This record gives sequence, structure tokens and C-alpha cells, in this order.
Amino acid sequence: MPDLIEHGSGEYEETVALRDEVLRKSLGLSYDPTELAGEKESFHFALRDGVQLVACLVLKPLDEGCIKMRQLAVRENLQCKGFGRELVNYAESFAQGRGCEEIVLHARETARGFYEKLGYDTEGDSFTEVGLPHLVMRKKF
Ligand SMILES: CC(C)(COP(=O)(O)OP(=O)(O)OC[C@H]1O[C@@H](n2cnc3c(N)ncnc32)[C@H](O)[C@@H]1OP(=O)(O)O)[C@@H](O)C(=O)NCCC(=O)NCCS
Repeated sequence: MPDLIEHGSGEYEETVALRDEVLRKSLGLSYDPTELAGEKESFHFALRDGVQLVACLVLKPLDEGCIKMRQLAVRENLQCKGFGRELVNYAESFAQGRGCEEIVLHARETARGFYEKLGYDTEGDSFTEVGLPHLVMRKKF
């Protein structure tokens, strides 16, 4: 089962390393301290298989009733084994438990099919973020 972890903790640093590996390095990018400091008000989740961190995700509260899902990363050699779905399902339950009525996210176009399988709808046209085409996707509860 996933864990809610504390911003700034050792576990959080581990998730940043995984995010860096999966989401940034291949783009020649990295996280800067200001960006990470700005995540203090977000909720951070980690999923382990035994002791190994396999996936992580961030929930950022927006307006009342709406949360943004960010930074979903599954360890490269462990993708397509159900870890991403498990983590998203858990985060959705967490958000609903806090009165959230919808989740919005910016999906890489390459991940669109994954989110569609989990019930997210696409809104509008593609746009560029971190140099890659993205789509706004939303799920209402
Ligand atoms: C995209 C990602 C989060 C999916 O997590 P995962 O653990 O690999 O996916 P799961 O095994 O939980 O897959 C759930 C379902 O989605 C499908 N799926 C997984 N990745 C997919 C993709 N990129 N496109 C289409 N379908 C996908 C799986 O085949 C599975 O389908 P099934 O129910 O018919 O078997 C993960 O592959 C990843 O971290 N990718 C690289 C980083 C990334 O793109 N992050 C998202 C940024 S918005």
C-alpha cells in the first residue's frame, strides 16, 4: 500500500531522485531547490515493493474541491506492472476523502492512454511543458 510521506524527509528525497531519473534526466533537465521548496504545501506519496521505492506521485491542492495530480513516476524497469494504477487509485481515494470533487493533471501525450484507462478525459489542445507535448486531463468524482 502507498504511503503519505513528509516534504523534506529522507523518503521525500528518495522520491525526488526517482522523479529525476524517470522524468528529468532523459530531457537533460533537473530539479532546482526553489521548485522543490514550492512543493511544501503538496501531498507526497510513495509506493514500495519491499524496501525498493517503485513509484511516486504529488497532489497539489488548487481551488476548493480540485486537486492537481503531478509528477507520477514509476521506476523504468518496473513499468506496466500495475504500480502506476495502484498509486493513482490510492491518491484518488485520499483526495476524495478530503472532499475533492475532481482531479486535473497535465499528461504527457505518451501517457494519455494510461490516464484514459483510469477514467480521465482530455480537454483542449496539446501544449508544451518541459519541452514535451502535454494534454490537460480531468476526472470528476
Ligand atoms: C505512465 C506510467 C505512470 C504508467 O504507470 P505503470 O505502472 O507503467 O502503468 P500500469 O501498469 O499501472 O498500467 C495500467 C494500464 O495502463 C496501461 N498503460 C501503461 N502505460 C501506458 C502508456 N504510456 N500508454 C498507454 N497505456 C499505458 C497498461 O498497459 C495497463 O493497461 P491494462 O489495464 O489494460 O493492463 C509509467 O509508465 C511511467 O512512469 N512512465 C514514464 C513517466 C511518465 O510518463 N509519467 C507520467 C507523466 S504525465
